[in-house]
Amino acid sequence: MKKEEIITLLNQDLEGEHGAIIQYLTHAYAMGEGEMACEIEALAREEMRHFDWLSETIVELGGTPSLKRGEMRMGGESVSDWMKNNVLLEEDGIALYREHIKVIDNPKIKRLLQRILSDEESHHGDFQHFVEKAQKESAKDIRGARRDRITDILNWGIEHEYTVILQYLFHSYMTRDKNVRREMEDQAINEMQHLGWLAEEMVDGGGSPRIEHIEVDQSTKTADMLQTDIKIEQEVAAEYDRAAKEITDPGLKKLLIRIRDHEVYHIEVFSDLLKKKK
Ligand SMILES: [Fe+2]
Ligand SMILES: [Fe+2]
Ligand SMILES: [Fe+2]
Repeated sequence: MKKEEIITLLNQDLEGEHGAIIQYLTHAYAMGEGEMACEIEALAREEMRHFDWLSETIVELGGTPSLKRGEMRMGGESVSDWMKNNVLLEEDGIALYREHIKVIDNPKIKRLLQRILSDEESHHGDFQHFVEKAQKESAKDIRGARRDRITDILNWGIEHEYTVILQYLFHSYMTRDKNVRREMEDQAINEMQHLGWLAEEMVDGGGSPRIEHIEVDQSTKTADMLQTDIKIEQEVAAEYDRAAKEITDPGLKKLLIRIRDHEVYHIEVFSDLLKKKK
């Protein structure tokens, strides 16, 4: 099988992982703090590892990881319906991995897909179990319909964080500079924390997070990446600062200031790396 064909198949898998991550996180946030929500978040984290492995393999083959998000199964009236959708999404993934394992002849990649497949089979069982558990515990969607200036700010933050998570991951996969790679990955993980904090704040405050992103920079030259990333961090640090001044709720104010301080740190880290490139 040609490299290009393998890359196409792995990108399909990657898009599936992306969809699964967002589907499961949306559920976990909407359920609040219970044990099941934590377990679902842990499964989303396993999908993130798959996302990472697949992206790295695609780059090793000379390809570019796709940032498209695969089909999600987002309907459902109750948590137990959501868990049924997650069972179905895992079935979609399992079928695709089985097919790809059959047709890909590279032993190392076959082995990786086998490894991922065994996780998906285990997730499938977990979600089947959650269908019943959700019924028994009458687990609820605790999101509310609140829409005001605060929910606008939180949704703006979530949109930004989701965008830079993808952007820094993409940059970490594409750069050839080891230090940049490490920092990009580290800051992407930090942005995941921000996204989680903002989404939880939204649900606790009676709102409903909207997990969508805007355009992701796909520069492939390290200096271009860093320049773009510094610019976006400067803009959002200023915006978080402005929002923190506007908000009177002390808890939310503190959260926005904490995130702003992280973004300022990102500006400094990226600026140092850029200096070394010049
Ligand atoms: Fe996965
Ligand atoms: Fe952030
Ligand atoms: Fe940042």
